[in-house]
Amino acid sequence: MLVTSKEMMSKAFDGKYAIGAFNINNMEIIQAVTRAAKDTASPVILQVSRSALQYAGPGYLRKMVEAAIEETGVDCALHLDHGPDFATAKLCIENGFTSVMFDGSHFDYDENITKTKEVVEYAHARGVVVEAELGKLAGVEDEVSVDAANATYTDPDQAVDFVSRTGVDSLAIAIGTSHGAYKFKGEAKLDFARLELITSKLEAAGFNKYPIVLHGASSVDPASVKLCNEYGGKIDGASGIPAEMLRKAASMAVCKINMDTDIRLAMTAAIRRHFGEKPSSFDPRGYLGDARAYIQNLVKNKIETVLGSAQAQN
Ligand code: G3H
Ligand code: 13P
Ligand code: ZN
Repeated sequence: MLVTSKEMMSKAFDGKYAIGAFNINNMEIIQAVTRAAKDTASPVILQVSRSALQYAGPGYLRKMVEAAIEETGVDCALHLDHGPDFATAKLCIENGFTSVMFDGSHFDYDENITKTKEVVEYAHARGVVVEAELGKLAGVEDEVSVDAANATYTDPDQAVDFVSRTGVDSLAIAIGTSHGAYKFKGEAKLDFARLELITSKLEAAGFNKYPIVLHGASSVDPASVKLCNEYGGKIDGASGIPAEMLRKAASMAVCKINMDTDIRLAMTAAIRRHFGEKPSSFDPRGYLGDARAYIQNLVKNKIETVLGSAQAQN
């Protein structure tokens, strides 16, 4: 069923695992992710960025997701990722999305609160849940100073104030992850102490089992990068969040883990390999079919070995 992520996240909190939130842009990605969720009997969040909305159109995405749910029977939330404004959130809600993110992290604090609240009021009145973001997911240098971290990472006291003043259902925080394939110059470092503090302060304020969201959480799968490079690509110095760190976050209050880069790399790796091995191929079902199978395998692996949400449906 197309469901909200509320129940999924609350079960994930109790079960010390996380729900995978995978970015979707076309039919093959939707099929791959939902089939992997079926293979593992796991709920899943399919998320759509503003550029994905522009690329595919909300109606196409919604109908393809409905078809995928019909085929697989998985519990699936359809979520707007990094919603830039009220109008985009409204458009998605009108198109049947069950969850929206309003990303006001680049606004100043009070403006982020005002704009988030507006989306929360509209969404809640229509049975839709809202994720918001506090803190900035910048690319993190190796030697991030304590001052720099304090300036960009989520402030625990502000997180409590933000959640109580906006009524938002989940909060994306900055603790050292970042978007894209080039996340770190050196070793990955996540500020787990800050995550712990955010959760304990939320609990002390009466927000028990409050779901936290981790963006920028691709591992930048080395096998996909290697394949891309073996077959003519040039992806140098890419690195992501190690699986153990994601597992640790999932065992804490992180209930939703966002991954897009790993899907992009997987799709590109499979297509590059296809043409490398079959230079005379030109049937799109051949290379897109290979990409779909590769992504399905990657997502299945993530669910089983990183997220821990396998067998968690219903
Ligand atoms: O966090 C952003 C996602 O990776 C979506 O990227 O805007 O290029 O679709 P996109
Ligand atoms: P990655 O770039 O690490 O895949 O993060 C995706 C994301 O946070 C989408 O919102
Ligand atoms: Zn993100």
